[in-house]
Amino acid sequence: MRQSEQIRVGESLLHCIDNKTTALADRIYSQPTQEYICQDVAGKEHELFFRKTPICVGLSGLLPEKETYYTHDLSGQPFLLTRDKSGIFRAFLNVCRHRGARIAESCGKRSSFSCPYHAWKYGLDGKLIARPEEISFRSSPKENHALTELKAIERNGVLWVMPQPEGTMDLDTHLDTIDTDLQNFKLDNLHHHETRTLTRKMNWKLVMDTFFESYHFCVLHKNSICSIFHENLSTFDTSGDHFRLIFARRTIEEIRSHAKSSWDVLPHIVSIYVLFPNTVLVWQADHIELWQIFPGKNAPEEAVIQLSFYTPEKSVDESSKRHWDNNLDLVLHVVENEDFPVGEGTQKGFHTGAQSHITFGANEPALAHFHRTVTNKLKHE
Ligand code: FES
Ligand SMILES: [Fe+2]
Repeated sequence: MRQSEQIRVGESLLHCIDNKTTALADRIYSQPTQEYICQDVAGKEHELFFRKTPICVGLSGLLPEKETYYTHDLSGQPFLLTRDKSGIFRAFLNVCRHRGARIAESCGKRSSFSCPYHAWKYGLDGKLIARPEEISFRSSPKENHALTELKAIERNGVLWVMPQPEGTMDLDTHLDTIDTDLQNFKLDNLHHHETRTLTRKMNWKLVMDTFFESYHFCVLHKNSICSIFHENLSTFDTSGDHFRLIFARRTIEEIRSHAKSSWDVLPHIVSIYVLFPNTVLVWQADHIELWQIFPGKNAPEEAVIQLSFYTPEKSVDESSKRHWDNNLDLVLHVVENEDFPVGEGTQKGFHTGAQSHITFGANEPALAHFHRTVTNKLKHE
């Protein structure tokens, strides 16, 4: 974050503290409960947001060197992500061009893939290199059997994939200016520490909602993060469909005693970048948490949630590994034991007929922006 932006953010947060306020929407917003439980809506969302929209699949550190690969299945499309021998990030469908078997599992380092069924061999650039009993296939040249490639772009340390093979990926239009800040964080230098995956009985949008306000911090999280952060207090800035929230740690008071030109606001904030539709990048002073939220197999009632930790340095010994593991455990402990049980109860409540709409207050502008964007996009599809 540039110094001028740090000053702007610091001023906004101190203003909110002094005036006991937060970034505000101009009105309350009524959100239909139907949109969390309707099969028809879920089907349209799947098609529009998880097939026709670029998906963030991770940060550059997911593929830390040449000739590494990572499989990613959460969108429902089996992605095989690679960094080929030239260092280029690529994405394919993890489907053998002989008879359709998956050609790779998990992640790792290798210079080629051998299909487990009949051993057709592919390069990390997707080309079919060899196949046993070549003579039996000679009327169909190898060039016709490369892996099906997806549009893939690595930009400012973020890996983007277009889930379906057809169509184009226009990231400039898609991202608007949301990644201007991200450039300064040098995300491409980070190491992938670990990824964990959870499944919860919540609509994917309800999981997203969890991140969008600090109004609940000292109620739901009174025994955990309330003591660390100011409640009901954040900045809110939009960039097209995307947005950024910044929460203030209670330590932010320390900057009052320094000249503005020398403010170092970063240790006192947590920045939440929401990359529409389903990615939440949490910038912490010392690491990044990347949340990817997908509809589960039993959508609209289920979501699959993936949390990845990216750290400034690779964990080379047990104690640094333990440090980040503990950090990850702590984050998951709060969401799993505090946020998501409430979310699962809320999801059930949507079926009761208690109310046709839920209400986002003026103090919850990010929720309104997110749901307005979802609704408008589905309407115009
Ligand atoms: S299905 Fe892959 S080699 Fe036959
Ligand atoms: Fe929470």
